[in-house]
Amino acid sequence: MSQILLTGIATLDIVNTVECYPPEDAEIRALDSYPRSGGNAANTATVLAMLGHRSHLCAVLADDAPAAQVRTLLEAQGVDLRHCVRRAGATPTSYVTLSAANGSRTIVHHRDLPELDTAAFERVPLETFDWLHFEGRNVEATARQIRQARRRLIDQPISVEIEKPRSGIRRLFPYADVLLFSRAYATALGYRDAATLLTALRPQVPQAILICAWGAAGAWGLAAGDRRLRDCVHAPAHVAGPVLDTLGAGDTFNAGIIDALLGGATLEAALMHANRLAGEKVAGLGV
Ligand code: FRU
Repeated sequence: MSQILLTGIATLDIVNTVECYPPEDAEIRALDSYPRSGGNAANTATVLAMLGHRSHLCAVLADDAPAAQVRTLLEAQGVDLRHCVRRAGATPTSYVTLSAANGSRTIVHHRDLPELDTAAFERVPLETFDWLHFEGRNVEATARQIRQARRRLIDQPISVEIEKPRSGIRRLFPYADVLLFSRAYATALGYRDAATLLTALRPQVPQAILICAWGAAGAWGLAAGDRRLRDCVHAPAHVAGPVLDTLGAGDTFNAGIIDALLGGATLEAALMHANRLAGEKVAGLGV
């Protein structure tokens, strides 16, 4: 069991399951409707807690009623919120349409809440954690936080999730030991496969393990120092059953990587472990 700090956002996800994704301007009835806690860092924290780690979230929580609901949901799943800060504003909320036909999740997100400020992050006893994970979203603030972490940590690994091609996001690359890229990031940059993305980025980040999951095609990784296409490690996707729910699958994958690497797994074993967790999650069987 390790102490893990995850910095990013916590949201309230209102999930409506529908038979299949509706056409625009349709009026349909949901098969099911329920709230859950969401946000990439919060989802990864939840999975790590379920895997038995001491999972601490560092995020801004609003001062409204939905924030109390998010708090209750996260704490019920074992996520420690003592390093979250409360700010005036509205809980970031995602309205999720989950298609029962193929498990696709369409997200309409609304946020009106200040970002995590550096002063709040400074108060976190970073030295007490075995691993730090950051959601690469608010680039300016995240860069400041990671730089600070680098100064204060001894040799604890830092992982950074790169999900979207936000302006300046590459500034986060030099501080990471593990970079977790999404397929959406790769395709937005024009790459058609994970291995080409990883080898193309290698000259900019010689120090990090580079990882990219590609849905049903599986996941690829490039160990620190390796740089050729043929050095890339591939692990096939794990098919645990029909795809029912892809919401947070990438966040689950990231938790699997952190869990495996903390346990001393090889890159290949870490990819396989993360694929298994993500495969079980999308089949509705997982943690
Ligand atoms: C899934 C997710 C949801 C959240 C949204 C935020 O990866 O974290 O839980 O609502 O993305 O962008």
